[in-house]
Amino acid sequence: MSDKSELLGEIIARHHHREGPLLPILNDVQAELGCVDAESEALIAKGLNLSRADVHGTVSFYHDYKTKADPRPVVQVCRAEACKARGVERIIDKATAAAGERVKIETVYCLGLCSAGPAARTGDDLHIRLDEAGITKLVENA
Ligand code: FES
Repeated sequence: MSDKSELLGEIIARHHHREGPLLPILNDVQAELGCVDAESEALIAKGLNLSRADVHGTVSFYHDYKTKADPRPVVQVCRAEACKARGVERIIDKATAAAGERVKIETVYCLGLCSAGPAARTGDDLHIRLDEAGITKLVENA
């Protein structure tokens, strides 16, 4: 049995008893492996007695699940309406320039901080009222 298969087995066993175990399992697999790839989908489907289509449908529905690991740090920048009204389009070019190839800039649509935008997230940290200097510093420190 491969290390990956063992790890998936442990994660599935950790959540199998729960009502609705699929999302907690996917969250843990994403956290441990950096992605939920096709092999993981197959192992999860088998472990939960689901079809691969069921698992793949869930993985592809939520864009936070990645099918390939990307080791780069991620800065999520909100480009929804309230943040647009507060100037996110003026700072996104600065974020992209500061990121280069080292940091991945992801567009998201609302981080729940609409009254304090432009807003961004790095990991579990939320950042508000970003201006050009603020987003540049945030990306450089990612
Ligand atoms: S619109 Fe940007 S946080 Fe809600």
